[in-house]
Amino acid sequence: PLVTTGELVTRAAAARSAVAAFNIITLEHIEAVVAGAEAAGAPVVLQVSQNAVKFRHGRMLPLARAAVAAAEQAAVPVALHLDHVQSDVLLRQTADAGFSSVMYDASRLPYAENLAATRNAADWAHAQGLWIEAELGQVGGKHGRPPLDAHASGARTDPAEARAFVADSGVDALAVAIGSSHAMTTRTATLDHGLLERLAAALDVPLVLHGSSGVPDGELVAAVAGGITKVNFGTALNIALTGAVREFLTARPEAVDPRLYLSAGREAMVGAVTGIIRTLARPAP
Ligand code: G3H
Ligand code: ZN
Repeated sequence: PLVTTGELVTRAAAARSAVAAFNIITLEHIEAVVAGAEAAGAPVVLQVSQNAVKFRHGRMLPLARAAVAAAEQAAVPVALHLDHVQSDVLLRQTADAGFSSVMYDASRLPYAENLAATRNAADWAHAQGLWIEAELGQVGGKHGRPPLDAHASGARTDPAEARAFVADSGVDALAVAIGSSHAMTTRTATLDHGLLERLAAALDVPLVLHGSSGVPDGELVAAVAGGITKVNFGTALNIALTGAVREFLTARPEAVDPRLYLSAGREAMVGAVTGIIRTLARPAP
C-alpha cells in the first residue's frame, strides 16, 4: 500500500532502525525496488530526484503516477519522496504528483541563505501536510561534480550549526555530511562516526544519509546504530542495472527486444535492493 514517508521514518526512528530509500529513473527501477522490498519483507521509499525529472524533459507525472500505482499494489508499505529539489516550481508540484515528502536542497548556499530558503520551503510544505527533509553541510558528488575531499571542513555538518538550523527552519529531518559522497562506484567511503554521534546527540529530528552507494556494509550498519534513520541509494541500482544489461548484450549481441536485457537489468536491481535492506536490518556487532 501507499503510505507516507513521515510514517515510515517515524516508525523506523522509534525502532532505532532505518528505512531504505531508492532513487528511481525508469519503470524497471520502480518494479525492482518494490519487488526487492517485498522479498525482504520491509517498507521502502521510492524517490524521484529533480535530476530524474529533468531527464524526463521536466515532466514529473508519468514516473510519479507509475510509482503511485506500484506502491498501491505493493505487498509492503511504500512511500513516495521528491529528492534534491532546488526549483520552487517543482517543489510546488510535490503534493499534486502524489508525493508525501520532499527533500529541499539549498545546501549549496551560504548558511543564512540556505536557512532562509529552507524555512520558506518548510512553511509551504507543512501547510500542504508534507514531510520535509533539508541538508546542511555538503554531501559532494552532485550533478557530476567530483566528490568533495573527505577531509575538507566545509564538507561536514557542524552539530551546533545543525541544531540551530533545524530549530530555525522547522524541517522534519536533516541530511548530514559525515563522509559519504554521491555517485561513488566503489564502496570506499569512510564515515565519521564520532561526528554522527555528536549530531545525533544535538538533534531531535531523524538523520538522513545520502550517497550511501559508496558506503561499505559494515559502515552502513554502524551508521544505522549511530542514528541514521533514512538511507538513500541511487548509484547502487544503476551499477546493477547497467552491469547486467552490458553483460547480456555482450553475450547476445543479436538481441533487439528490450524486454530481454531489461529483465536481466531489473533482476539485478531486485537483488541489490534486497541485499541493501537486509544489510540495514543487521544488528551492529
Ligand atoms: O539522494 C540520493 C542519494 O543520496 C543517492 O546517492 O547515488 O550515491 O547512492 P548515491
Ligand atoms: Zn542525495
